[in-house]
Amino acid sequence: MINVQSQFCKNANAYESYNIIQNRVVKKLLEKIAESPQYILDIGCGSGAVYKSMTWHPKKFVAVDFAEEMLKIHPKDENTELYIADFNQKGFLEKFEDYRFERIISSSALQWGDNLDDIFGQISLLNTPISFAIFTSGTFKTLLKTASIPPLLRSKDTLIELSQKYFDAEHEVLKYSLEFASVRDMFQYMKKSGVGGGRNILSVKQMRELMNNYPLNYLEFEIILIHEKS
Ligand SMILES: C[S@@+](CC[C@H](N)C(=O)[O-])C[C@H]1O[C@@H](n2cnc3c(N)ncnc32)[C@H](O)[C@@H]1O
Repeated sequence: MINVQSQFCKNANAYESYNIIQNRVVKKLLEKIAESPQYILDIGCGSGAVYKSMTWHPKKFVAVDFAEEMLKIHPKDENTELYIADFNQKGFLEKFEDYRFERIISSSALQWGDNLDDIFGQISLLNTPISFAIFTSGTFKTLLKTASIPPLLRSKDTLIELSQKYFDAEHEVLKYSLEFASVRDMFQYMKKSGVGGGRNILSVKQMRELMNNYPLNYLEFEIILIHEKS
């Protein structure tokens, strides 16, 4: 069943908004996990939004990311283990074959998976309930349409179909709109937030045209939560 939830963040300035959406998404994702799992794997952990937002203290929190700078600023405690791993590389989970996790979490990262079919397949081999939040093609929808750029990300339907191949999960779609005081702030956000995956999707000329023609004073985000009950 798909459940759609919308929220509107008003007047975000570029600075405070860099992580605002990702942090809200983490909170929503963690709310789904009722049973306080003690052995957790976090894929694409970044600077630790999942770990920092947890309301319980797990016995072991294993976090992976391919960006060393992110792991450097991830919290480190007696219960954390941090590893560099690229989920686009085959066998990125091999070193965890002997681990027994109680939940695998991934928030705002797997949209950058090149072959999500393969990544989901590798994750499913760990036989552990999953909770994923993945950005969909509904993100920046009007903006991409205005600039005649095809969607960068997979649609929610594609993600649901893929997840059904490997997981027995429920799905919820979150929609957020982030309003900006100026178009300049909005584009600044896009550049710095990392939501664009570090890609320069527009040339300077395209960017200028878009700033003149974008019909909204907010950016759209769509995220799908894919959650398996334990
Ligand atoms: C938007 S951040 C989300 C971080 C954190 N999970 C959160 O919710 O705030 C996406 C993270 O995915 C990581 N990432 C992107 N592609 C990756 C890959 N191929 N392998 C591992 N990590 C990746 C990035 O380095 C970044 O830390």
